[in-house]
Amino acid sequence: MSVQGKVALVTGAAGEIGAAIARQFVAGGARVALADWNADGVREVAGQLGAAASWHQCDVSDDRSMAETVAAAEAAHGRLDIGALNAGIAVPRKALVDFDVETFDRIMAVNARGVFLGLKHVFPAICRQGGGAVVVTASTEALRGNAGLAPYAASKHAAVALVKNAAIEWAEHNIRVNCVNPGPVDTAMMRALEQKAIDAGTADIRARGASIIPMKRFASADEIAKFVRFLASDDASYSTGATYLLDGGMLAGKMAQETL
Ligand SMILES: NC(=O)c1ccc[n+]([C@@H]2O[C@H](COP(=O)([O-])OP(=O)(O)OC[C@H]3O[C@@H](n4cnc5c(N)ncnc54)[C@H](O)[C@@H]3O)[C@@H](O)[C@H]2O)c1
Repeated sequence: MSVQGKVALVTGAAGEIGAAIARQFVAGGARVALADWNADGVREVAGQLGAAASWHQCDVSDDRSMAETVAAAEAAHGRLDIGALNAGIAVPRKALVDFDVETFDRIMAVNARGVFLGLKHVFPAICRQGGGAVVVTASTEALRGNAGLAPYAASKHAAVALVKNAAIEWAEHNIRVNCVNPGPVDTAMMRALEQKAIDAGTADIRARGASIIPMKRFASADEIAKFVRFLASDDASYSTGATYLLDGGMLAGKMAQETL
């Protein structure tokens, strides 16, 4: 699963999945440009990776910020071969009718427009290398309805649509575009949602999750990151436009105790 000598832009790199992706790329011999809104967090992750990493404060939902970040990444490392478009936000569960417009717009801006802008701006840079790969972090919620998650699900469905369109348009440019679709991952994002649900007395997400995931546990960030590295590597050379579930079997079907 070699990414030796490649340069990867990783967005959302201050978060646990993004940082794990960055570590996997560096372990495989790549250099990384780490981008996140959280400057202190992304600087810290870059510091742990030493000379192989640069860091860049960026807002993936902002056209100019993404353009500047890609330019800075290319300038820092002299090339760009891989885009890991991983930045994203989540919101606690609510009925569709109770979400306000501002929340819907914000989640679409980061999770959908952010992927659009990431794709748009990495394209010319990767073309300059004669090809490469992009991997988007979507979600199981990109592939199904799930009561209470309407804006998040809409934004992740949009991300998958963008992956499919870019894959078709860019095959002739030797750029593969895929996405990983994790179920619950044991990160700060999931722990924050978990705590809010417990505080609101609505659910113990972890216990409920374990009861509907055949593997009976959440994923680790490293399990997602290893798959992202595989998809970005030449070992995945015939994969493009694909969605890969990393969900411990959750979407394979209902478990016995759930059936009628
Ligand atoms: N944790 C899970 O259970 C889970 C499951 C499925 C999919 N995902 C997806 O995985 C990705 C990473 O999630 P995570 O669990 O590491 O979450 P996280 O909250 O730890 O990391 C997300 C990172 O994105 C950054 N970010 C948010 N908005 C940004 C913006 N506008 N510009 C730049 N950076 C921004 C945050 O600062 C943060 O560092 C997200 O796209 C998320 O939707 C997570």
